[in-house]
Amino acid sequence: MARDLFKKCRDYSDSADARAQGFYPYFRCIEQSYGNHVVCGGEEKIMIGSNNYLGLAQDPRVVEAACEATRQFGAGCTGSRLLNGTISLHNELEEALAAFLGRESALLFSTGFFANQGALAALTEADDVILCDRENHASIIEGCQVAPARLVPYRHNSVDALRNRLKRIPEESGRLIIMDGVFSMSGDMADLPPMVKAAKEYDAIMYVDEAHSLGVVGPQGRGVVHQYGLNDDVEIVMGTFSKSFGSMGGFISGSHEMIEFVKHKARCFIFTASLAPAVVGGVLKALEIMQSEPERIEMLWRNTRMMHEGFKSIGFKIGSTQSPIVPILIGSEAKAFAFAQRLFEEGVFAIPAIYPAVRYGEAIVRTSFMSTHTEDDLDKVLDIFAKIARELGTFDDPVYTESGRRRNVFDFALPQRGGVEEVRVDSGNSSRNGSELHAAVSR
Ligand SMILES: Cc1ncc(COP(=O)(O)O)c(C=O)c1O
Repeated sequence: MARDLFKKCRDYSDSADARAQGFYPYFRCIEQSYGNHVVCGGEEKIMIGSNNYLGLAQDPRVVEAACEATRQFGAGCTGSRLLNGTISLHNELEEALAAFLGRESALLFSTGFFANQGALAALTEADDVILCDRENHASIIEGCQVAPARLVPYRHNSVDALRNRLKRIPEESGRLIIMDGVFSMSGDMADLPPMVKAAKEYDAIMYVDEAHSLGVVGPQGRGVVHQYGLNDDVEIVMGTFSKSFGSMGGFISGSHEMIEFVKHKARCFIFTASLAPAVVGGVLKALEIMQSEPERIEMLWRNTRMMHEGFKSIGFKIGSTQSPIVPILIGSEAKAFAFAQRLFEEGVFAIPAIYPAVRYGEAIVRTSFMSTHTEDDLDKVLDIFAKIARELGTFDDPVYTESGRRRNVFDFALPQRGGVEEVRVDSGNSSRNGSELHAAVSR
């Protein structure tokens, strides 16, 4: 008898179980957004779970540019860029991005996810190797799965691990090293200079995903590559519009010939409809504002510094973040869910991240800050975090006390809710159980 493809759907109960316990944190419906504040269920919440770093998603000039583009070109392009879907705004945005980043050319994709997938799949061949930081974003990992090349993960941000891998690659294989500029969960920055040096020594192409760094890091928000002055040493710079640009879509940038090749070969560029006029019009305006109002980036960093210091002074562990992404280490998955639920009840919108988005046993509440948060917003957030941590006993947990149990067993009782988290053991040994590779692959 043929396997019942829907059996797994009937058996799936994780989301229903979480809902039944009152801890389900996903798909929260936003009824109105003001950027730093949103309305959910008729109640206003401080939003610290968005990547709208410069508050541009709600900027009236961006909104008006999106409306104007819609009036001029319609609601959609109803076709692929290759065929009927290219409008003058697409070309204008590609030129503006290339000029902004000091690259020869840029190519838009319908999402940042597609940009990574399309470029990796188009540019690599069967005997090539993609060297991939273990904490790279899921779109990169998916891209590696679709690409014909072999995926070789290396320890997060470790140039020694990278060199070790590079040493073992057959001489004739093409090599591409790919990393997030700012990592989306930990918020730390790629240690680019030694990576670039290693890439040169081993004749590898460098590819940096600046999704979380454009509009945030570097002169006028030009990203990590510019921050380090390495624009001439990184062959491919990728970005998204779903963070600082306040919209959606993505792009890659680099040499004319590389872009010309990818635009004729990347399947997820060719076989999908182009970005809607409203998106492109809005992003063009956002790019203009990003460059003309540097005070936004200054405010973002003022808020970022305030939150790094604020969380640390309360006693939270925030890892090695160097950006507005501030992961609040909780440890237990159930507690991270409980924490996020209590935040929501107290008027703060933040999302927990659990394995495989983060390492097993290191669940976090992921917070991220904007230039448009007020001091009052941020003071309130810190007070509420402190209150909930005391209530849930967060600072007494092994992950905080470092009593030696970290990353071994997590078996916390959930205060006030009565549930007990399943005891789980993670040996942390990738060669024995493949969990690390699985984590990298699923992230
Ligand atoms: C580092 C990184 N790269 C790529 C993407 C995908 O971008 P998009 O949302 O435009 O598909 C994300 C999105 O979260 C990301 O964090």
